[in-house]
Amino acid sequence: MDEYEPLKVAEGVYWVGVVDWNLRDFHGYETPKGGSYNAYLIVDEKIALIDTVKAPFAGEMIKRISRIVDPSRIDYVISNHVEMDHSSSIPAIMEIAPKAKLFASSKGKTGLYEYYKEDGFEDWDLQVVGTGDELSLGKKTLMFIEATMLHWPDSMQTYMKEDRILFSNDGFGQHIATSKRFDDEVEDVLEDAAIYYANILLPFSSQVLKYIDRVNGLGIGIDMIAPGHGVIWRKDPARVIEAYGRWAKGETFAKVLVIYDTMWGSTEKMAMEMVEGARSAGVEVRLRHLRKNDWSMTLKEVMEAPVIAIGSPTMNNKMFYTVSGFLNYMTGLRPRGKKYFLFGSYGWGGGAVKGMEKEIASAKFELAGESLQVKFRPFEDDLDRCRAIGQKLAGMAKDMAKY
Ligand code: FEO
Repeated sequence: MDEYEPLKVAEGVYWVGVVDWNLRDFHGYETPKGGSYNAYLIVDEKIALIDTVKAPFAGEMIKRISRIVDPSRIDYVISNHVEMDHSSSIPAIMEIAPKAKLFASSKGKTGLYEYYKEDGFEDWDLQVVGTGDELSLGKKTLMFIEATMLHWPDSMQTYMKEDRILFSNDGFGQHIATSKRFDDEVEDVLEDAAIYYANILLPFSSQVLKYIDRVNGLGIGIDMIAPGHGVIWRKDPARVIEAYGRWAKGETFAKVLVIYDTMWGSTEKMAMEMVEGARSAGVEVRLRHLRKNDWSMTLKEVMEAPVIAIGSPTMNNKMFYTVSGFLNYMTGLRPRGKKYFLFGSYGWGGGAVKGMEKEIASAKFELAGESLQVKFRPFEDDLDRCRAIGQKLAGMAKDMAKY
């Protein structure tokens, strides 16, 4: 056994991906646990590679494949998704196996052209496939399932009929780096899948529900889900599909989330009193200082909370830069069906609360009530109001919680 040892997932099916131990930022999304790019090799009468890895890791993936077969013998390369973390080693593979046939969705073909038109695309033998199309490898058969907007227009998944394995690409992934490859070997995998969903799939929740209907309509059994990131679901894979259904429908709990930043402690004092008010009213409360918490984790909290209070100090007549950045990130992920309460502090002219109100209005999010701002520092009557607001938000959270 060496560091390039592939891992057998099922008879003739191998994980040949890479673990990115030091990944801490996935295109702007914090990944404190690292990540992996999963590729799978199927060895039958024909040899198929499902997805590849991020280009800097191509050599490692090829070494791993070489432990099983000569990579030049690869007959088929399946590109489930063109985003670079899965496709950017395709040029390297097609150079080693120039006769390999490539399979992608219609939009996948367009994306591969756009990315790799100067890297050999014109020489590739590419076949477009859609839902229900099949590819025989000999004893094993692959079937393609379009997974449009999970999370790009081109996204596709590949199902191996005989072993009932769904190669799901980004769907059902998690960003964790581990030497373990299966869900029953690691802790908190559903929590990691929820963080991933909140940061990657949340804006596409209605398409997730359509996708679940489409897969159910195909009437296929799924014994294993092998995603493009993280560990493989082999222990009751239906549990993550069921969780996707809940997250997509907007599952929330009786919970108030308070997100803030602070300069001289005024906004923080207000936040703390709201926490105390909500806590005393009997709901769970989470407090997230934007410079002290991973935003990716905070987004998972946003997904679960029906009521969210956001506080900012005023700096140069604007909301604080972290609050502005967070609102930009959060509104892009479109968490729906929530109520937002805005608060903050200022010294001279103000501006933070107004700026936040503008952002929330342009995202068409609903406010939980009139915003609150204090000048310089909150005194006892201000803090009393904050506590009362916390209690009011708790009542809303109880009424709005789904599940
Ligand atoms: Fe894992 Fe959309 O890339």
